Amino acid sequence: MTEPMIKTDHLSHTYEDEDGKVVYALKDISLEIGKGEFVAIIGTNGSGKSTLAKHFNVLLTPTSGTCEVCGMRTDDPANIWKIRQHVGMVFQNPDNQIVAAVVEEDVAFGPENLGIPSDEIKARVSDALRRVNMTIYAKHGPHLLSGGQKQRVAIAGILAMQCDCIVLDEPTAMLDPVGRKEVMDTLHQLHDEGITIIIITHFMEEAVQADRVVVVDRAEMKMDGTPRDVFTHVKELKAMGLDVPVAAELAERLRQKGLDLPDSIITEEELGDALCRLS
Ligand SMILES: Nc1ncnc2c1ncn2[C@@H]1O[C@H](COP(=O)(O)OP(=O)(O)OP(=O)(O)O)[C@@H](O)[C@H]1O
Ligand SMILES: [Mg+2]
Repeated sequence: MTEPMIKTDHLSHTYEDEDGKVVYALKDISLEIGKGEFVAIIGTNGSGKSTLAKHFNVLLTPTSGTCEVCGMRTDDPANIWKIRQHVGMVFQNPDNQIVAAVVEEDVAFGPENLGIPSDEIKARVSDALRRVNMTIYAKHGPHLLSGGQKQRVAIAGILAMQCDCIVLDEPTAMLDPVGRKEVMDTLHQLHDEGITIIIITHFMEEAVQADRVVVVDRAEMKMDGTPRDVFTHVKELKAMGLDVPVAAELAERLRQKGLDLPDSIITEEELGDALCRLS
């Protein structure tokens, strides 16, 4: 693996419930994400995905164990701002992330707070908007944009900070299919440029597009592998209450009906090809 962008070592995060009982939101997570990876994190509601993501840019720190970003421990307060210049977060609701009345001002907000000179900010904003394909909206009011466009503006804000890792917590959950595709296409393009992408998603068709899928279930990491490694475990995923990509599910049902299909099918193309070979 390449140099780690994020490394957790036996990370646990606990809280106390109303009765004072200690509950694990995350339990003993040891995970290494290399620079330049594209990782999807999946898991049912309440499994701990957001809690994990919040450790990656120090919105939370471990109750026990450690989390490091680019070799810097998140529990050292001296590292917080340095870490946040590496890792930016995008959340589910596009409307909660916009702070300015004009797109380019919104993207400039982060670097302005860092005290970057204005010429440099201008260059960063125009570069960031170009990379998310939003240049023509630079002077627009963000409230007029679609959800997918707003999420791309949020991503541009992170690029303007020159972060090299973007963590997205269900960025497409509130978007229509067109917006979802726009955001995923943007993430793939940024990944090609070398940015590390970590996306939490409930859409298995998005998780299939990652290089690596991490499955969290009831506070614990249960699987970690390529989409093919993970999504061919249809029974285990279903037992956790998770969906699998439609093609993997259909292939499994057809196998149960006696069709001789390979175990490795996870995309519609692969299923189509395998069915054609049968006839
Ligand atoms: N400080 C806290 N106080 C009370 N409960 C908490 C606290 N932190 C986390 N939890 C609980 O920990 C569990 C994990 O929450 P988390 O938000 O990380 O799950 P998630 O996988 O992101 O779920 P979802 O898919 O619904 O977004 C949940 O049951 C949540 O209610
Ligand atoms: Mg969540």
